[in-house]
Amino acid sequence: MRHIVVKQAMPSANQRALIEAQPQLASLQTDRYENILIVGATSTLAVAFAHILAKRKVRLFLAARNEEEAQRIGKDLAIRYGCPCTAGLFVAEDYASHKAFFEHVRKTLGAVDGVFVAVGELGDQALNQSNFERAKSVIESNYTGMVSLLTYVGEYCESRKQGYLIAVGSVAGDRGRQSNYVYGSAKAALATYLQGMRHRLSRNGVHVMTVKAGFIDTKMTYGLIKGPLVADTASVAKAIVAALERKRLVVYVPWFWQFIMFIIRAIPEWLFVKTKI
Ligand SMILES: NC(=O)c1ccc[n+]([C@@H]2O[C@H](COP(=O)([O-])OP(=O)(O)OC[C@H]3O[C@@H](n4cnc5c(N)ncnc54)[C@H](OP(=O)(O)O)[C@@H]3O)[C@@H](O)[C@H]2O)c1
Repeated sequence: MRHIVVKQAMPSANQRALIEAQPQLASLQTDRYENILIVGATSTLAVAFAHILAKRKVRLFLAARNEEEAQRIGKDLAIRYGCPCTAGLFVAEDYASHKAFFEHVRKTLGAVDGVFVAVGELGDQALNQSNFERAKSVIESNYTGMVSLLTYVGEYCESRKQGYLIAVGSVAGDRGRQSNYVYGSAKAALATYLQGMRHRLSRNGVHVMTVKAGFIDTKMTYGLIKGPLVADTASVAKAIVAALERKRLVVYVPWFWQFIMFIIRAIPEWLFVKTKI
């Protein structure tokens, strides 16, 4: 495999962590190409995940609503790692296009061995709670658009009796809070949907993994959060790959969110309503 060094500006903290993470993963290459579809491929987290996969023997299909940006990411990955990458258009709320979209991915890749879904929209809670059009957009990006796509992915994986599906949810779905309950409710619905899908598909050899992410430094949270609880994308992507290899069903990333959410869920409702979180 040919590596081309691309000259670039000083790497960010995220990029440095990503570069450091990669040598440890190089030994995990397999003999055949794995064909992986990444949906929401322009997500900062999805890009970090794609870097890890691209280092292995994978063929990637990068789907995003900004197809041009997905193409740019694909070219960069192909130059760095020599992996074949294709890009395509995926718009969560364009339900009518999803069947043809997945058919196109199948034809392009030959077979789809794994799907990673990173589509999500946080929105602004103040607007989400007062303007239904805003709330609908958040629900469509995080939930109904995913249900539409996963209908076709689920049928396909079930017929093949193999493959994996990873979808990125959020700790926000574990408890409704005043500060983000429109987004949180869509992620809660996604988690329940995935739970049912896992129940249905696990007996057919299909692995469905729910990622419950805490705060991550991405464009979604740009300018919104800071501090020690905010994780970089490279370490989160690495934790997701490790969880997939251990065949985890539900994984909190970073791991400590499992304990934080255990406590938050345990607070009785009468007390919780007095908090401002
Ligand atoms: N960052 C965090 O703290 C955090 C915490 C918990 C969970 N998550 C989840 O992690 C996943 C990845 O997000 P991220 O943090 O990497 O943020 P991000 O960079 O903003 O990625 C979100 C992705 O979703 C895409 N998207 C949004 N609405 C869409 C639509 N209607 N149709 C198609 N694509 C759409 C975005 O496309 P564009 O690039 O075109 O905008 C982007 O690719 C999301 O599911 C998010 O909810 C993030």
